[in-house]
Amino acid sequence: MTQDELKQAVARVARDYVADRLPVGGILGVGTGSTANFFIDEIAAIKDRIGGTVASSEATAKRLQRHGIRVLDLNDVDAMGIYVDGADEIDHGMAMVKGGGGALTREKIVAAVATTFVCICDASKRVAVMGKFPLPVEVIPMARAHVARELVKLGGTPKLREGMVTDNGNLILDVHGLSIADPVGLERQINQVVGVVTNGLFAERGADVLLLATDGGVETCTR
Ligand code: A5P
Repeated sequence: MTQDELKQAVARVARDYVADRLPVGGILGVGTGSTANFFIDEIAAIKDRIGGTVASSEATAKRLQRHGIRVLDLNDVDAMGIYVDGADEIDHGMAMVKGGGGALTREKIVAAVATTFVCICDASKRVAVMGKFPLPVEVIPMARAHVARELVKLGGTPKLREGMVTDNGNLILDVHGLSIADPVGLERQINQVVGVVTNGLFAERGADVLLLATDGGVETCTR
C-alpha cells in the first residue's frame, strides 16, 4: 500500500471509532496535517451525529467548514470527548513528536481539553526512540536567537523554519540531532526556556489510543 492508502485506511477506522464512541451531539477535536485531512473528509459522512468540532489550525477549520461541519471556539466548549490527530513520530510509551505542519500549540491546547487523544498514523511513524524527525519548537519572534542558544545547550541543532509564521504569529525552530530518551523530561526542560510558546513533544499528555495503519491492516494500541 502507498502511504496515502495507509492514511486513508486509518482515517476510515478513526471515523468508525468516533461514530462508536462519541455520544451523539458530542464535541470532537480535529488535528492538522495530511492524515487529519483524510479523517476530515471521512467524518463528513457522520457530521449529523457530531455536535461540533474544535479545529487545531486555521487550515483544519477551513476544511471542516467546506464539508459543512460545525466548527466551535474552544472557549465555548466545556468538554470534548475525543481528539483525533496525526503525529510525526510516536514511541512505544505513546509519546509523540508533533508540529511538522506548524500547528503544535493549538494541537497541544485542544489535546489538553480532550478526554481521549486518538493518534492516527501509518507504521512509518512508530519509532523506538524519537528525535530523527526534527523537534518543532514555537517561539516568540524576539526570543528566537535566545531560544536557539538554549536548545544548543540541550544538545540539539535548531534551524529556523523558513517562511513559516504560525497561526499565532510566531516562528518555528526545528531541532535536529536529538535522541529523545526521556520525552517527559525534555518536554519540561524546553518549556522552561523563556520565549518558548510550545514544544512539539507530546509526552506528559501522550496519546491514549493509537490507530496504526500497516500493510496488514489497522492496529489499535492503548496506553
Ligand atoms: C501538524 O502540526 C502536525 O502535528 C501533524 O499532526 C503531523 O505533522 C502529522 O502530519 P501528517 O499526517 O501530514 O504526517
